[in-house]
Amino acid sequence: MSNLTWRVLLIITIGLTSEGSIWQTKEDVYESFQKTPPLQEIKEYLMKYFLDRRDHTRGKRFIPYHDIIFILDSSKFLSEENFNLSVITAQNLVTRFDPDTQFASIIFGTNATISFNFHFARVAIESFGKVGYQGGKRNTFDALQAAQNMLLLNHNSGVRDGSRKKVLLVTTGPCERTLTETIKLQRLIWVAMQIKNLGAEVFVVAVGNRIPRIEELLLIPSSTDVHFYRVANMTAFKSLVDEIPIHIVYQDDY
Ligand SMILES: *[C@@H]1O[C@H](CO)[C@@H](O)[C@H](O)[C@H]1NC(C)=O
Ligand SMILES: *[C@@H]1O[C@H](CO)[C@@H](O)[C@H](O)[C@H]1NC(C)=O
Ligand SMILES: *[C@@H]1O[C@H](CO)[C@@H](O)[C@H](O)[C@H]1NC(C)=O
Repeated sequence: MSNLTWRVLLIITIGLTSEGSIWQTKEDVYESFQKTPPLQEIKEYLMKYFLDRRDHTRGKRFIPYHDIIFILDSSKFLSEENFNLSVITAQNLVTRFDPDTQFASIIFGTNATISFNFHFARVAIESFGKVGYQGGKRNTFDALQAAQNMLLLNHNSGVRDGSRKKVLLVTTGPCERTLTETIKLQRLIWVAMQIKNLGAEVFVVAVGNRIPRIEELLLIPSSTDVHFYRVANMTAFKSLVDEIPIHIVYQDDY
């Protein structure tokens, strides 16, 4: 994946220094994001950057507690079965965090709904059990706006001052829009930027063999090298999360 950073830098350099691109075009770079890396590699990135499990020393923790927001695609572009898998995978991810982590969730199709506000693991896992499939359009904009206004900026959501905030968007493609609706794209970039300005890191899991308009999805994560993950299907995403060891402290009933 770090290879991609290098390529993006290369393109920027070529863009700045010459008219014609000698080695690669922009399209080639976008094409490289279509590739799904080996699950082992994605797992390591997810553990390191999303779960913050950098090494397994038991000593002092240097990181503060986390407040995590799951944003799950529930549009017609994924089946109910795959949506269910996505929910189960989110539940499984919950048990991979430190026990002082809080979780909230948003489900989106044509509209975004807050499934639940910030709670510790046990309540979060229970609440995930009650979310239902929506279908409809893929309104990623609405989902990001809900994350900003109803979770991050709303203290009634249970969001904690001083927490390290992370958003994980699991989706099958970019926000739905007609190609002439550039305003929608601008608003999407704007809301994603505002979430990052609030101090939240944004991660994207892009699910599917090929993602049309993948370049529009690349505008959302905090970076394209460590915040953007490509998996071929929901089963693959679930199986890589299953491989991550559960925190030893979860023996206590949190
Ligand atoms: C998805 O999960 C819901 C609730 O857990 C269940 O009622 C439904 O039958 C499941 N759908 C599929 C296709 O597995
Ligand atoms: C979803 O959004 C559309 C358009 O903004 C609105 O007309 C509709 O009432 C909303 N549906 C629900 C269930 O909130
Ligand atoms: C899911 O993707 C993996 C590769 O990551 C592949 O081996 C598997 O066959 C795919 N499963 C389905 C149901 O498409």
